[in-house]
Amino acid sequence: MVLTAFWAMLPAYIPNNAAVLAGGGRPIDGGKTMGGRRLLGDGKTWRGTAVGWGAGAVLAVVLNAIQQDASDLVGMTLPEFPIAIILALPLGAMLGDIAASFLKRRTGRERGAPFPGVDQLDFVAGALLLAAIARPGWFLDTFTLPVLLVVLVLTPILHVLTNGIAYLLGLKDEPW
Ligand code: CTP
Ligand code: MG
Repeated sequence: MVLTAFWAMLPAYIPNNAAVLAGGGRPIDGGKTMGGRRLLGDGKTWRGTAVGWGAGAVLAVVLNAIQQDASDLVGMTLPEFPIAIILALPLGAMLGDIAASFLKRRTGRERGAPFPGVDQLDFVAGALLLAAIARPGWFLDTFTLPVLLVVLVLTPILHVLTNGIAYLLGLKDEPW
């Protein structure tokens, strides 16, 4: 269950980290404001979003290529990603993160300000939602209730860990 959850969510985990590495350039909101605050802020860029999406999709293709061998190795059938899911999981992750920034700006939080709970799960919500829309059947087969529960527990732990490491390595300005 933990392995299935981790495997199925990997294409949604990678985009944020890739965006941190690739970020910079033109902000998506083009500097526009709403109610005196930025629509999204400088932390959401076209490049970061595109690279994050691409990185997650490429990873999903790689996981598909090794799915059989990996399944044999762990003695269980790990999920395969249909093409719509290859695209939906990482795009949903990026959109969830962007939606959270919109929410953060509307609630007066500056770029980089922590939003506990939202920071850790925004991309999961986005990825799961878009995957469910893209391939409802695959979504229900893969994300059974126990797997979903593992995802909800595992993700914040991994998120805190990886962002802490990125912060210590000087890749990220804040550890969240
Ligand atoms: N990033 C990006 N494009 C995205 C998401 C992230 O370019 N769609 C890059 C930015 O350089 C950003 C960094 O990754 O600063 C860290 O991402 P995140 O923590 O999500 O952004 P914050 O800068 O903290 O901004 P916010 O408060 O809006 O979350
Ligand atoms: Mg942040």
